[in-house]
Amino acid sequence: MNLTSLVKQKVQSAFENAGFRDATLLVRLSDRPDISDYQSNGALPLAKVLKQNPRALAEKIVAFLKEDSFFEKVSVDGPGFINMTISNEALSEVAYSILSSEKSGYENPSQSKTVVFDYGGPNIAKALHVGHLRPAIIGEAIKRLHKFVGNKVIGDVHLGDWGLPMGLLMAELSEREPESVYFNPAYEGEYPSQAPFTGHDLEVMYPIASQKSKQDPAYLTKAKDFTRRLQNKEKGLLALLNKFVELSVGSIRQMYDELGVSFELWRGERDVHNRLLLMLERLRQEGVLFKDAGAEIMEVGKSKSGNDLPPLIAVNSDGAVMYAATDLATIEERVEEFGAEEILYVVDARQALHFEQVFNAAEKIGLLENTTVKHLGFGTINGKDNKPFKTRDGGVMTLRMLIDLSVNAALKKMNSGEMGRDLTEEEKSEISKIVGVSALKFADLMNERMKNYVFDEDKLTSTEGKTGPYLLYAMVRMKSLLEKSGESLDLLATDVPTISHPAERQLLLRLYAMPDSIQTAYDNNAPHVVCDYLFKLAQDFNLFYHDCPIKDAEESVQKSRLALTKYALTVALKMADVLGLKVPDKM
Ligand code: ARG
Repeated sequence: MNLTSLVKQKVQSAFENAGFRDATLLVRLSDRPDISDYQSNGALPLAKVLKQNPRALAEKIVAFLKEDSFFEKVSVDGPGFINMTISNEALSEVAYSILSSEKSGYENPSQSKTVVFDYGGPNIAKALHVGHLRPAIIGEAIKRLHKFVGNKVIGDVHLGDWGLPMGLLMAELSEREPESVYFNPAYEGEYPSQAPFTGHDLEVMYPIASQKSKQDPAYLTKAKDFTRRLQNKEKGLLALLNKFVELSVGSIRQMYDELGVSFELWRGERDVHNRLLLMLERLRQEGVLFKDAGAEIMEVGKSKSGNDLPPLIAVNSDGAVMYAATDLATIEERVEEFGAEEILYVVDARQALHFEQVFNAAEKIGLLENTTVKHLGFGTINGKDNKPFKTRDGGVMTLRMLIDLSVNAALKKMNSGEMGRDLTEEEKSEISKIVGVSALKFADLMNERMKNYVFDEDKLTSTEGKTGPYLLYAMVRMKSLLEKSGESLDLLATDVPTISHPAERQLLLRLYAMPDSIQTAYDNNAPHVVCDYLFKLAQDFNLFYHDCPIKDAEESVQKSRLALTKYALTVALKMADVLGLKVPDKM
């Protein structure tokens, strides 16, 4: 149960008592919180159907609502809107039953589904950079949102480990170590357990190889040749690829750990290769896949906006399988192996065309009978000049640098006393990591996904305004209030928040509104809605904290205010968890 569903029930019976069955109630949180808590606009469409005066009709319904002491005030306004204000007694009475429930009042939809999330999308042997922040943390937040509402979630990192970049690395390595056993197809022995290069070597080698291939056609041919040999599963090259993956995955994993991003699956493009070959064979036989200038392609019809889409290239003229083909086989894998009912791709908006081609192709070959697929794109992170974020000298901003920028900015604020005044040096260094990362994540998640935003480490670590530290501060304050008063965090039936001040009422109502925000966020795969909610909750709490003293209040008031604080903390922590934000104990 939650407050909205309770109000809906009451409105429903009022409609029925007034003689209107099966009406659409249109009950929601009020657009005008200054005049009411909830509104129902259901009298308007009903009056139209019945050809009656909407105000008169609304009055009939309101007469029944007025009989219920749950409401303090009910009125008909404008052309027939019903405005309802809940009584303070009712608000405090339902607190424990609603807010102490597992999801603080959120009710699971009757049908939960299995959803696969494709996010992160790092590439083997390339250092993670600024472009990898958004897919990781937006993907993680959307996955957690789905989990909160009761879906079965599977996150797959989907490594880029099968295309030309691997061939390029091999070409470069073969120039440096031509004698290496990995390159000898006739080699029969064991491959060395220790790789002759480090993960860092790979990150250095890749850009060099990529550069050379653009200048030297022979080098490019060599790289393409390696790609083909790899995809033909030459033993030594597979062993080499395994080494690449082993070394890269370690540092990729560590970076994601730091960001609080985790995956159920660490699969990559290469894992679907056998499946892909079978699929291609079938499509050839069915005539869906055909030769075109040496490549093998597939027509994929029109885009959603009605334009013709370029054909999907499954195999290029060098005989290598392409990105789109691996994605197609991966859809089949996710449907067959995991029973995916929905697959969500949290990938840069610039890949929109790619996904339209892949999704149309998947539809065409019958993969999507019981599965929906969606590309959830996002905009870019810009520097203060409003251009894609680079280092000062125009180089690539790595993810490492980005995290360090925020963590150092948080630390600086602790040293200047803007926060962390009571922390030891050691605590500052620990806690600035939590605060810096949460600040970075919140500053990203709070934007509507498709919008670009400007990265400003000073702003995003400020304790004022709509920032991570502002929220964390409110939660830390709740924790310390409860700790100082010796209250346990467990919610008890005796935790009854009575209302004696408007700030208490506003905070309590905010807590009850959580399910509505979660639902909107879920329906639109929009973590920013949860960010908005949590920000408002922090504001309401701060107002309450400011206006409603606890320590010097009389005992019953004190107890009620601590109860309210407990409920606020419970809901706030759940929302921080949905967003994947870590909350320190002090700051
Ligand atoms: N590795 C890819 C890239 O860097 C992103 C992968 C996105 N996921 C996918 N299934 N295509 O562009």
